[in-house]
Amino acid sequence: MSTDTPTAPTPVTSGPAAPRWTTHRELQAWIEEVVVLTTPDAVHVCEGSEAERAALTDALVGSRTLTRLTAKPDSFLAWSDPTDVARVEDRTFICSVEEKDAGPTNNWMAPDEMKAVLTDLFRGCMTGRTLYVVPFVMGSLDAEHPMFGVELTDSAYVVASMGIMTRSGTEVLDALERTQARYVPCLHSVGMPLADGVEDVPWPSNPTKYIVQFPEERAVWSFGSGYGGNALLGKKCYALRIASAMARDEGWLAEHMLILKLTSPQQETHYIAAAFPSACGKTNLAMLEPTLPGWTVQTLGDDIAWLRFGDDGRLWASNPEAGLFGVAPGTGWDTNPNAMRTIAQGHSLFTNVALTDDGDVWWEGMTDEPPAHLTDWHGESWTPDSDGPSSHPNSRFCTPIAQCPVLAPEYDDPRGVPISAILFGGRRRTTVPLVTEARDWAHGVFMGATLSSETTAASTGQTGVVRRDPMAMLPFIGYDAGDYMGHWLDMGKGADASRLPRVFYVNWFRRAGATGDGPFLWPGFGENGRVLKWVVDRLEGRAAARDTAVGRVPTYGGIDTTGLDIDEETMAAALRVDHDEWARELPRLQEWFDSLGTTLPSTLRQELEVLRSRLVG
Ligand code: PEP
Ligand code: MN
Ligand code: NA
Repeated sequence: MSTDTPTAPTPVTSGPAAPRWTTHRELQAWIEEVVVLTTPDAVHVCEGSEAERAALTDALVGSRTLTRLTAKPDSFLAWSDPTDVARVEDRTFICSVEEKDAGPTNNWMAPDEMKAVLTDLFRGCMTGRTLYVVPFVMGSLDAEHPMFGVELTDSAYVVASMGIMTRSGTEVLDALERTQARYVPCLHSVGMPLADGVEDVPWPSNPTKYIVQFPEERAVWSFGSGYGGNALLGKKCYALRIASAMARDEGWLAEHMLILKLTSPQQETHYIAAAFPSACGKTNLAMLEPTLPGWTVQTLGDDIAWLRFGDDGRLWASNPEAGLFGVAPGTGWDTNPNAMRTIAQGHSLFTNVALTDDGDVWWEGMTDEPPAHLTDWHGESWTPDSDGPSSHPNSRFCTPIAQCPVLAPEYDDPRGVPISAILFGGRRRTTVPLVTEARDWAHGVFMGATLSSETTAASTGQTGVVRRDPMAMLPFIGYDAGDYMGHWLDMGKGADASRLPRVFYVNWFRRAGATGDGPFLWPGFGENGRVLKWVVDRLEGRAAARDTAVGRVPTYGGIDTTGLDIDEETMAAALRVDHDEWARELPRLQEWFDSLGTTLPSTLRQELEVLRSRLVG
């Protein structure tokens, strides 16, 4: 029980009288079941206290999983096994009862079949380890229906990370017990039992990995990985894959979006949600420092938004997470000073970045000049002359969002905030203009449904390949992709169009040259505030737009470039709608839609025909 001596795990006694870990009947039964299956040496119900965190991190330093950073308070560095560094999309499954409900974009296996496979893998997998019980809630504990989860894991690193990324511990367990509420069971193991004579390693994992969602049962099973989105099950597995299926059934949206609050010099405020694929700058935009005088951005979230209609007919967004799990490389005092200030306060966990000689972290892009000497993420001595980068391209910082100096006070409001605009964006070196406004909701859904981006290191596999990533949700849609697009259209159908968020498509990554091999056309980072200004000017009815084949783009001079060193030709190139480039895009869009099968809404096919006729007449 959470009220017992906190940090001592309870040894598991064999025989029929299982210890009582909780008064929540279903949870007690589930823990008993998992104990029998996985045979841990001990069970520890996490209370989420500072003393518990200190004991856990001490133990992780002892087992060489973590290195204590002497330069930042209560901060640690983990180096993972080099084979366990990113989400594994090819090992991720949506095990719906019927195959068609997983759709063509997900891996599928029948739930019974998958349960059999996993049960074999989980049998005895926690031998020699402690089973941790992490009660957590995604979003506010004060919500009308708090979104509970419980992760059972044999990884203390996961416990420490979940403590940062979610609201968790005794308070949550108390609420669960009081109400006997339902929760999403999230079972996790690194998959490396310590049978007699087996010695532990700093980063235990298993070459066989399964990240499995059961959408009807609302359950997650994850085996073999200790890394981020594979293992911190409240995040991608629950708050996106399982929650998207809940949202379809209940009439809301679970999206891969940052949430920011933008205030103009006239003190107008607008809340904006933005969906970009992993490692395309969501964290940077969420805590942007606009270069334009008088404009401010405050942060509400950097990765996940849950959107529901309010009584006022507007779409309200809240961030279900309590922490940031940001891509480290490229994060620096120039590119994202607020992220640097957030981690400077400590209480953070870093994974696969480099260690400085004075007990701090460093990664590519943190400072212009690399330190003269580092220990790289492989634990090897590193100098600027060394071959590879010091940090893995998908290395991460995990830090409490409450430490962000520009956190909006509304972050904690269980109602969320009313969204004025949704931005979709990807990483495209050609074709896609800096900013385009959708003509209406259906056109906005078409923009999201056809979003494309060059792949990044956030997932294993080749990087730099253009792939369609609908609403930046390709790896996270917990059901059929065509049905998902249909759900987006339905959300707009019942709504008062004047209260729906306006939809925009942005591309910070367009480059010069016919094949996009030249320099970036747009400086990005703090200058992206200029694009946000255009969005607000559109919302406030202050900016004109050019109607083009692909949507509304800024008129000449529409983007405020005051004080920015960019010539007219470059600005025009960043905003250009090139019919030849778009004509080459058409067959790819057709192919993408064809790949989605019969559930693709006819409205989206019609949108494609409208685009085709506008482009080729
Ligand atoms: C992750 O990879 O673990 C993760 C949190 O997600 P993303 O790839 O969206 O950054
Ligand atoms: Mn993400
Ligand atoms: Na990749």
